[in-house]
Amino acid sequence: MQIHKLCFLALFLANAAFAVKFNFDSFDGSNLLFLGDAELGPSSDGVSRSGALSMTRDETPFSHGQGLYINPIQFKSSNTSSPFDFKTSFTFSITPRTKPNSGQGLAFVIVPAADNSGASGGGYLGILNKTNDGKSENNLIFIEFDTFKNNESNDISGNHVGININSMTSLVAEKAGYWVQTLVGKRKVWSFKDVNLSSGERFKAWIEFRSKDSRNTITIAPENVKKPKRPLIQGSRVLNDVLLQNMYAGFAGSMGRAGERHDVWSWSFEN
Ligand SMILES: *[C@@H]1O[C@H](CO)[C@@H](O)[C@H](O)[C@H]1NC(C)=O
Ligand SMILES: *[C@@H]1O[C@H](CO)[C@@H](O)[C@H](O)[C@H]1NC(C)=O
Ligand SMILES: *[C@@H]1O[C@H](CO)[C@@H](O)[C@H](O)[C@H]1NC(C)=O
Ligand SMILES: *[C@@H]1O[C@H](CO)[C@@H](O)[C@H](O)[C@H]1NC(C)=O
Repeated sequence: MQIHKLCFLALFLANAAFAVKFNFDSFDGSNLLFLGDAELGPSSDGVSRSGALSMTRDETPFSHGQGLYINPIQFKSSNTSSPFDFKTSFTFSITPRTKPNSGQGLAFVIVPAADNSGASGGGYLGILNKTNDGKSENNLIFIEFDTFKNNESNDISGNHVGININSMTSLVAEKAGYWVQTLVGKRKVWSFKDVNLSSGERFKAWIEFRSKDSRNTITIAPENVKKPKRPLIQGSRVLNDVLLQNMYAGFAGSMGRAGERHDVWSWSFEN
């Protein structure tokens, strides 16, 4: 009995030691790593900071950057095992500075190192480049909020959400929007609401991974709408071969030739 209790306690402590949980209500630069052009977003007065974590700088063509949580996160008990459950949510906005909208987009990323030397702007979203795009040894996964249709990566549109593993070509992509349930007579019916990712409006995104059946779900909604019950994307993909034991999590984004802001306003993560 005593031994049982001790084992249980040891297990509990081991799990607790691995678990990471944090919450940013806004960003002041603490507990973050800034790579490339990522910075604390400027306010409209040009002097103070907006409280956003921003990926790109308006004046720099093909600007791109990554903003990561300061410490690596343990996603698995070893390089080859299956990842623990994790969930994250954040609010973001994408705001074109010029017309026509130049793209390119924002992504939530899980990457093996705090090093963006292999990243390009434009369609590479500050994550990959022309040479390493698609290589299985990239060991990275990202959820993209893509605002530009790139032919090379078979984008479905200039306004979609996708799950990407090691490649700019999405495994699954859906047009940006969310599901709402309404009553038609006595029947509950799902209807789809389109959103415009690059409208400058704030959206909230929820990304969840469940280890026991490798289920992942992506859900988005306007910031003031509560989490839709039906995800935008749901699927199952074992991530044992993609994620390493310790990875960095955060955001990446890029623009094309013309200005587009990619701002993250709040972020929570838990595994
Ligand atoms: C896990 O993989 C990474 C990247 O390949 C490597 O640097 C690290 O040493 C590996 N960890 C172990 C315990 O083998
Ligand atoms: C892509 O990044 C790698 C480093 O990961 C670098 O060796 C290569 O030259 C880069 N290619 C381009 C086209 O920038
Ligand atoms: C993408 O493909 C479409 C249709 O084939 C073509 O009209 C368009 O010019 C291409 N865009 C780029 C940037 O290559
Ligand atoms: C999204 O909003 C931007 C900014 O208002 C606008 O330029 C763009 O045309 C809109 N896109 C769509 C698909 O409505």
